[in-house]
Amino acid sequence: MNIYEIVKKRRSIRSYKPGPVEKEKLTRILEAAGSAPSAANRQPVYFVIIKDEKTKLQLKKAYDEKWFYTAPVIICVCSTPEKAWKRSDGKNYADIDAAIAMDHLILAATEEGLATCWIAAFKVPVVKSILNLHPGIEPVVMTPIGYPMDIPEPTYRKPIDEIIKII
Ligand SMILES: Cc1cc2nc3c(=O)[nH]c(=O)nc-3n(C[C@H](O)[C@H](O)[C@H](O)COP(=O)(O)O)c2cc1C
Repeated sequence: MNIYEIVKKRRSIRSYKPGPVEKEKLTRILEAAGSAPSAANRQPVYFVIIKDEKTKLQLKKAYDEKWFYTAPVIICVCSTPEKAWKRSDGKNYADIDAAIAMDHLILAATEEGLATCWIAAFKVPVVKSILNLHPGIEPVVMTPIGYPMDIPEPTYRKPIDEIIKII
């Protein structure tokens, strides 16, 4: 697939087959995520790969959707705001760097035939505690990874003319 085909193919998948994700695929996906750019190349992003069944089940307390905590793998993309670049007006780019890494990860997973879903609506203190994150490391987004059970139709997008301005 080329990049345009991958972008079109990606969906938020909310049902996963129980089968495992191949180690080589996971490695390639994480390498893609790790090669994402970051502001001033500060690389404040950190990934927690959760395969352990007990830990996944514990994550139910953070985000109570069965398709999430029973997926074969869950990845939590974290950032360290302290290490991230700050603009002169004080804006911290840690979350943006994490989002870029997550997008690389999700598009690479799509190329590998794997399903994902951006998850932000989790309880942050619960995730910090379950994953035993060091102080200063913030969980930004998570995704389950596995093979899709169902692939939904594409969701609505605004027509491109509505979201661009040509000057
Ligand atoms: C930053 C971000 C956070 C999201 N958080 C959640 C979430 O917590 N739970 C969920 O089910 N979907 C979540 N989504 C998925 C969106 O609902 C989904 O991307 C959107 O409805 C468009 O559908 P599509 O991804 O299938 O194209 C999130 C997406 C983004 C980009």
